[in-house]
Amino acid sequence: MPERFEITFASLGADPEAVAVILAGEGLDLGSKARELEAKSASSISKASAAADYKGKYKSTIEILAPAKIGIDRLIIAGLGKEGSLSAQQYVDLGGVILGAIQARKASAASVIVDVDGSDDVSPEQVAALIAQGALLRNYNFKKYLTKKSNDDGADKDGLKKLTIHVAHPDKAKSAFQPLKAVANGVNFARDLVNEPANILGPVELAEKTKALEKFGVSVDILEVKDMEKLGMGSLLCVGQGSARASRLAVMTWNGAKGSKKQKPICFVGKGVVFDTGGISIKPAAGMEDMKGDMGGAAAVIGTMYALAERKANVNAVGLVGCVENMPSGNAVRPGDIVTSMSGQTIEVINTDAEGRLVLADVLWYAQEKFKPKLVIDLATLTGAIMIALGKEYAGMFVNDDKLADELQSASRTTGEKVWRMPLDKAFDKMMDSKNADMKNTGGRWGGSASAAAFLQRFVQKDTPWCHLDIAGTAMDGSRNDINQSWGAGWGVRLLDRFVADHHEKSEK
Ligand code: BES
Ligand code: MN
Ligand code: ZN
Repeated sequence: MPERFEITFASLGADPEAVAVILAGEGLDLGSKARELEAKSASSISKASAAADYKGKYKSTIEILAPAKIGIDRLIIAGLGKEGSLSAQQYVDLGGVILGAIQARKASAASVIVDVDGSDDVSPEQVAALIAQGALLRNYNFKKYLTKKSNDDGADKDGLKKLTIHVAHPDKAKSAFQPLKAVANGVNFARDLVNEPANILGPVELAEKTKALEKFGVSVDILEVKDMEKLGMGSLLCVGQGSARASRLAVMTWNGAKGSKKQKPICFVGKGVVFDTGGISIKPAAGMEDMKGDMGGAAAVIGTMYALAERKANVNAVGLVGCVENMPSGNAVRPGDIVTSMSGQTIEVINTDAEGRLVLADVLWYAQEKFKPKLVIDLATLTGAIMIALGKEYAGMFVNDDKLADELQSASRTTGEKVWRMPLDKAFDKMMDSKNADMKNTGGRWGGSASAAAFLQRFVQKDTPWCHLDIAGTAMDGSRNDINQSWGAGWGVRLLDRFVADHHEKSEK
């Protein structure tokens, strides 16, 4: 299938499209190509900028319509701010801003002219590649079910089809873009999964989606209900038993570590509840439609594995996603039921709406037993309470290892996907004790996110560095930004990719 949106790199000498973007540093500092356009167009750029009081502030834009004599219909100027002061992520964000400015009016093709000097840290080719990544992330939309706005293949009818980035060394920019493109593809893949409604994306379908990663050399293994029964996954299985659609556990293995195939893997574990009605402890009707996104953790894990594999990351990693649907029915698990998890620990189900932790309990245990990982990170849209604590901007980070916490925090600062450390504490653990079983699945009214994390910790083995990211606030309908305008955010893919790249991949540069 041809790509719906194509980004290519061309030389600075090549003719730009009729919609073109140039960059300006503070004080309207222009690069070589922009100065050429300025000269040819009888100073259109400086005249328009003066008229608009435009000075090239970072992320500010103006649009000059039909400037004289340069064959451009719309010339957009995007601000770089102070020379050489931008971080890599700021260029990515700028790419998003640029795409937004292009999209402000219909255009099927556009050019961005990257005639910058770059800085010590970031070469002009990298700037071009980073802007391209931001554009790819920003251009994402989910219009496939809008029959008047999309073509048969689901592509946006009025959307941008082709973006050409003009830069001094297009080949170098193209290679710099490869890994960045892989990451953006992983994010957009995750967004598609989150946005897809549950009638289309059931547990079986979600698990099958992981097979898309086989083309990059990921091996995919899908456990069916009978396999999970054999393993004793009574906790995960009880969640799906009320649904007409069978549960699955999808396991994606990427053995990318060069030289050391036996290197212990990193395990990423995701909550893949394709729809959470709450089960017998049913949720109120208002807003329940959002629970199609209750597989945001699974989407982040699949997207991360996608990114790592497409960019051939030098790491061993395993992604495990528990795919279930939480429905009320004559077969559904009841409050008061006691189930036995794969770990052997028994759980009294107090509230069938606290289902995510039941899924993760068995997937976490399986991951540790099967892969003996060097660390485990789980992602889950686990509690409404995390939004009360942290809003829609931060994910809650519960972690039993300070080094792991530092690594994730540093990756988070780099990518801008924000995490805030939350407590793991014996006091929260105690709240999960039950009179009738080894534990219960809810811990009472207060500290709902922390007691959920304490529950999960009961399935983490001694000496396993482990982090739980509660992404209920960020995975869906989070705060929109320069590089994300989608309901399903694909949150976590860039964070985890950066975490691997910066802390768990032997650099080969
Ligand atoms: N999937 C929900 C959490 C959620 C709520 C995510 C809103 C995104 C938006 C989870 O399964 C759930 O229902 N949690 C309950 C736990 C409670 C029953 C202990 C909650 O947060 O209310
Ligand atoms: Mn629930
Ligand atoms: Zn849920």
